[in-house]
Amino acid sequence: MTTETERLRDRVAAELLRARDRTVRLTEAVDEGDLVAQHSPLMSPLVWDLAHVGNQEELWLVRDVGGREPVRRDIDELYDAFKHARRDRRALPLLNAAEARRYVAQVRDKALDVLDHARLDQGRRLVADGFAFGMIVQHEQQHDETMLATHQLRAGPPVLSAAAPPSPSSVVTGEAFVPGGPFTMGTSTEAWALDNERPAHQVLVPGFHIDRAAVTNAAYAAFIDAGGYDDPRWWSTPGWNHRQEAGLVAPAHWQRDGRGWAATTFGRTEPIVPDEPVVHVGFHEASAYAAWAGKRLPTEAEWEKAARWDPATGRSRRYPWGDESPSPHHANLGQQHLRPAAAGAFPAGASPLGVHQLIGDVWEWTSSDFHGYPGFAAFPYREYSEVFFGPDYKVLRGGSFGTDRSAVRGTFRNWDYPIRRQIFTGFRCARDA
Ligand SMILES: [Fe+2]
Repeated sequence: MTTETERLRDRVAAELLRARDRTVRLTEAVDEGDLVAQHSPLMSPLVWDLAHVGNQEELWLVRDVGGREPVRRDIDELYDAFKHARRDRRALPLLNAAEARRYVAQVRDKALDVLDHARLDQGRRLVADGFAFGMIVQHEQQHDETMLATHQLRAGPPVLSAAAPPSPSSVVTGEAFVPGGPFTMGTSTEAWALDNERPAHQVLVPGFHIDRAAVTNAAYAAFIDAGGYDDPRWWSTPGWNHRQEAGLVAPAHWQRDGRGWAATTFGRTEPIVPDEPVVHVGFHEASAYAAWAGKRLPTEAEWEKAARWDPATGRSRRYPWGDESPSPHHANLGQQHLRPAAAGAFPAGASPLGVHQLIGDVWEWTSSDFHGYPGFAAFPYREYSEVFFGPDYKVLRGGSFGTDRSAVRGTFRNWDYPIRRQIFTGFRCARDA
């Protein structure tokens, strides 16, 4: 076996450990009552996420890759995300907190043993380059972000804390021009990329302008103050209907604070920070803001071209700053800070065309429906993404402050319903050349 394979094995083990540390932090921050509670009909009880993470690890790593005996075959049905809606999971005979912790630890022991024996350098596609392990690392980190969103919806005093994000030495504003022409979208070479990011393909994108930073709290407040929520001209028909039915007047978690606005973030209510990206807005609100500003949301292809296309070489980078994996000076990722950073706080993470903070801070709504790329093939299971393809979901790009570096890339695609705003969503605008 090569040292390269051994290095990969060490990296996989370290990533599994890092994900578990975060899961433990998120689930030990609250008491048993909070772990089993339904904090929102949109979210699972935290104790469900915990055991579900273990169950997926058991299904893929212990049983499939390892060919081992089941740890708990009897609970598969309880933790199958397609069998029970999030709002119904609290009523299921779930493992309690102690049982869930014991279960995930048992599974992890076996998964690490499977890793020790797995042939990462050859054989099954599922195992090659450690893909199945990478998929499980990303799955756990994705649920950690989901659990962080549940924390944001939990009532009561704060239990999470983190350092404030860095401040920019100069605030980034304005637009960048992205010249027209083809670029390579998606990937066929990134080892842990998921099926919906594949394959790499050429897309012709006409020239366009894109905001160099995400729309800020101050800019969004100006839209509200200008009566944006009361003027159907800026809203699509379904958007306006939703705005009326849901009684939307501002981003989730915002409240009036004298003449300004305050936001509640993980149990702390503070005045909004003007230069930070707005967060917790839905697709319809983002689209309405863009129309009011005389712009539009970028398409998914435009977003990815702005993030990855290098005009000097014509090739697409892994990340806006290059091919190097994210480090803390590139982007606000991984719950290092519990909020997005102000526009311009990560100059080292800018794209060649000077577009900032595409990775990290806030998930960015695009105008695109979620579809498979030409040549798409579901792998390793249809339920990862194919069953969600269609007009019901809009694509989000770039990850948030709550997304781990292992679970986001220049090609990474997230999707959600246009009315959703419990995830850490913001946006930037674009316009035709
Ligand atoms: Fe899951």
